Amino acid sequence: LSLLALITGASRGIGRAAAARFLAAGGTVWNLSRTPCDLTGVVNHPCDLSDLKRLEAVLAGLRLTGFSRITLLHNAALSRPDTCATLDGKNFLHVLTLNVIAPQLINKHVIPYMAAGSSIIFMGSTLSETGIAGRLSYVASKHALAGVMKATCLEVGGQSIHTCLVAPGFTDTQMLREAIGHAPEDLERARGATVLGRLATPEEIAELIFFCSQNPSINGAVLHANLGQK
Ligand SMILES: NC(=O)c1ccc[n+]([C@@H]2O[C@H](COP(=O)([O-])OP(=O)(O)OC[C@H]3O[C@@H](n4cnc5c(N)ncnc54)[C@H](OP(=O)(O)O)[C@@H]3O)[C@@H](O)[C@H]2O)c1
Repeated sequence: LSLLALITGASRGIGRAAAARFLAAGGTVWNLSRTPCDLTGVVNHPCDLSDLKRLEAVLAGLRLTGFSRITLLHNAALSRPDTCATLDGKNFLHVLTLNVIAPQLINKHVIPYMAAGSSIIFMGSTLSETGIAGRLSYVASKHALAGVMKATCLEVGGQSIHTCLVAPGFTDTQMLREAIGHAPEDLERARGATVLGRLATPEEIAELIFFCSQNPSINGAVLHANLGQK
């Protein structure tokens, strides 16, 4: 059986760990991001996902036939500081384009090629269901993605495609370090916010993503993976 994993943002972090997991399972792995994934075997399709015209052109160039199952992993995202006092339309639209609209355009293009048993995994966040101050566009985008997942679930079930939203807590990646700060005390604070007293690793989130992609009983669910949040 040939499995294709089409992953956005596999150049680093959770997406790269997921690429490694799908490769280990014998899958074909394609990455869509601006910089390449360095893992041997990953096919890179360079793309700035916030440029929807470029994304459409890249999608049109993909050969999606010949796979018995496809997993789509909508992982690429942008998180930057903004508030209700500072966020303007242009910046809000930029974040929503990358975090919410690009996944939908990819779904629209790829779903017709997806056979029974295929899956669509959305990367949410604790902030898909909780608000924090200071990341308004990101919080809004992650809530929106949960809505896209729930509606998509009901629409693709007839094709035996399953979907879910994996919602990590603090995971040790560049995005986290840029969000919370690079100082040892910043990381210590993040570790202290979890019951287990540590950050999640990209690899353990990738394992959950892989499990969800292979198990149709997980369908329409929001799965929190946060080591227990205080
Ligand atoms: N880390 C956490 O604590 C945490 C917590 C909750 C949820 N998440 C979610 O998990 C997912 C992965 O996050 P991460 O922590 O692994 O982040 P990361 O290390 O910053 O990686 C982000 C990925 O997104 C890609 N990306 C960003 N902007 C892009 C653009 N304009 N076009 C194409 N690709 C773009 C990056 O690739 P290029 O720069 O090469 O384009 C990179 O591969 C995200 O959806 C994030 O919201 C993370």
